[in-house]
Amino acid sequence: MNGFRLKENMLIGSASAATQVDGGEIFHSWQDWYEKGKITDGTSPARANDHYNRWREDYAIMKELGLQICRFGVEWARIEPEEETFDEAALAHYREQLETLRTLGIKPLLTLHHFTNPMWFENKGGFEKEENIPAFMNFAQKTVEALGDLVEEYITINEPNVYALNGYFFGEWPPGEKSFSKMVKVMSVMTTCHILCYEMIHRVRREHGFDNTMVGFANHMRVFTPRNASNPVHVALARLSEKIFQKSITIACCTGKCPWPIKKIGTYKKGKYSDFVSVNYYTRSCISGLNSAFFDHVPKNDLGWEIYPEGIVQCAREMYKIMPGPVYITENGTCDNTDSFRCRYLYDHLKALCESELPVARYYHWCFTDNFEWLEGESARFGIVHIDYATQKRTIKKSGRFLAQVIKDSTVTEECYDIYVKNEKYNVL
Ligand code: BGC
Repeated sequence: MNGFRLKENMLIGSASAATQVDGGEIFHSWQDWYEKGKITDGTSPARANDHYNRWREDYAIMKELGLQICRFGVEWARIEPEEETFDEAALAHYREQLETLRTLGIKPLLTLHHFTNPMWFENKGGFEKEENIPAFMNFAQKTVEALGDLVEEYITINEPNVYALNGYFFGEWPPGEKSFSKMVKVMSVMTTCHILCYEMIHRVRREHGFDNTMVGFANHMRVFTPRNASNPVHVALARLSEKIFQKSITIACCTGKCPWPIKKIGTYKKGKYSDFVSVNYYTRSCISGLNSAFFDHVPKNDLGWEIYPEGIVQCAREMYKIMPGPVYITENGTCDNTDSFRCRYLYDHLKALCESELPVARYYHWCFTDNFEWLEGESARFGIVHIDYATQKRTIKKSGRFLAQVIKDSTVTEECYDIYVKNEKYNVL
C-alpha cells in the first residue's frame, strides 16, 4: 500500500539563501570567488534568479502552490556594504518582503548568515578571528532590530560545519584555506557567534514585547557509514569523521558544552541554545579514509550524491537526543536537472519523516526556484520551479505540482502516488 499522512500541524514550504537567488553586483566573498574563476560553469551570482527584483512574482507562485512557510536569508553585504555603514533601503526592502509573506499567509523563517561575507569582513580574517565576533554581532543585532517585529523564527548561521570544512580544510570555497586547525578555529568562532546571536535575538524580541521567538542554526547532518563494517579502521574513521564534522559542533551549538575539537571562545555558559531540532539533510557518506565518498551501486542524484531517505530520520533523531524539541527540516532536496526523480525523492523523505516517532513540525524543501549552486553555479538544478536564466522565466515543475497536492490534501493518496511517483526511478550508479 503506497501513501502516507502528514504529521498533525506539520507545515511545508521551501528554503533559499540570499546569494543563491537575489542577484546583483554585490561586493561579497562569492562574487570575489567568481571573479577568481572558481565557479565550475563560469556563471556569476550577480545573475542568479534576480529575486531581489522579482520576489513578488516568486511569492505569487509560492501562494499558487499553497506553500505555508518560507525560509529565506538576508545578504549581509547588502545591508552593511562597508563596516558600520548600514543601508536602510536594503533593510526596508527586506521588510517589504517579510510583510508581503505575512499578508499572503506564508510564515517566514529568517536566516542571518548563509555562507557569504561582505569583503570588508572577509579581508579582516572573517570567522577565523575571534576579534571579528563583534562585527558579526553588530550586523546581526541591527538586522534583528530592523526586522524582528515581523519574524518569529530565526536561523542564526547556516551550516557552520560545511562553511568551515569547504573554506578552510578542503580549500574549495572562499577563502580557499587548507588547514585543520583553521577549520576548527572557524567552527569554534561560529559556535560563539551562534550562541551570542541566540541570546541577542531573544533579548531584542523580548524588549519589543514578543515572547514567541524560536531560534536555531541550520545544522548540516549526514549519515557516516564505514565502507566495510567489519574493517575496524573504516569503523573508527567513520566515528571520527562524524565527531569532527557534526557531532561536536551540534553539541556545542545546542548546549554550550564544547567537546573536542571545538574550543570554547568567550564566556558563554552551558545552557539551551536551540529551540528546535534544525536539520539540513541531503545524503550519506561512505568512509574508508579521510575523505568522504559515496557507496557504489546505490541510487544517486545528478551530482553523484547517494539518495538515502532513511538518513533524514537517523540524523534528526541524533540531534533530537542532544536537544529535544520540534523537528524543523530546514533543508532537504536534490539535484535533479530534468525533474525526473524529484517527486520520488520528496515522497521517500517525507514518508520516512511522517512514519517516524519524531515531532516533525516543519519541512523546508531545498529549494523553490533552481538557483546559483555555489561552486556548480547555474549548472545544478535543485528547484521545484524551473528557471530559464537568460529570460528569468519561471515554470512550475511536476515536482512543484506534487508538493502542492501533498500540502492541499495533508496526505499522499494511492491515486496521487500513481500520478506523480510510481513511474519515477532513481539512477543506480
Ligand atoms: C546549503 C545550500 C545548498 C544545498 C545544496 C546546503 O548545504 O545550505 O546553500 O545549495 O546544500 O548543495
